[in-house]
Amino acid sequence: MSDHKFDFPKTTVRQVVLAVLGGLFAPLLVIVMIVRLLIGIEASHIPDTDPKAAAAKVEERIAPVAKVDLATVETGPHVNKSGEEVVKAVCSACHAVGALGSPKIGDKASWAPRISQGYETLVKHAIAGIRSMPARGGNADLTDGEVANAVAYMANQAGANFKAP
Ligand code: HEC
Repeated sequence: MSDHKFDFPKTTVRQVVLAVLGGLFAPLLVIVMIVRLLIGIEASHIPDTDPKAAAAKVEERIAPVAKVDLATVETGPHVNKSGEEVVKAVCSACHAVGALGSPKIGDKASWAPRISQGYETLVKHAIAGIRSMPARGGNADLTDGEVANAVAYMANQAGANFKAP
């Protein structure tokens, strides 16, 4: 075994400079580049400074994917139901059996004094309601025309001769 003492080569100034450049400046350069990149990305963002525009953007982002416009689906031209249809669907709930003291359909005796008031008055009472008789028979969706149809239909069952509009 030879007693070889390893001889470190002398570092030159040039080597020191290179080492410092490589070990210190190269990473520094990379860091500077990354920072500049991040600043660049941030600068390319347009800030939503206008609160209205920002709110609009949020609305746009959270808007439902699909919208179904029920109003346009449901409404077409409204066709008034006939007196018979309205009476069957709404008025007969009370008037078929004389509930709450209502004049029963076809009962001439109880309808006669009411019929004598005239068609217009009866329609007015049926639309606005009178005593225990609810407005529009309790169905607010009925049009004035439909109520008038129903009044004519019911009163005519009891001997009147009203013509629905
Ligand atoms: C909740 C029960 C009820 C329903 C539903 C109902 N009515 Fe009546 N109606 C009454 C009662 C009770 C009276 C009697 C009111 C009174 O004179 O005290 C009456 C009275 C009437 C009269 C006579 C009013 C007058 O001036 O003498 C007409 C007309 C009438 N109803 C039409 C209708 C029509 C049309 C409908 C359906 C659209 C309808 N009613 C649905 C309870 C009802």
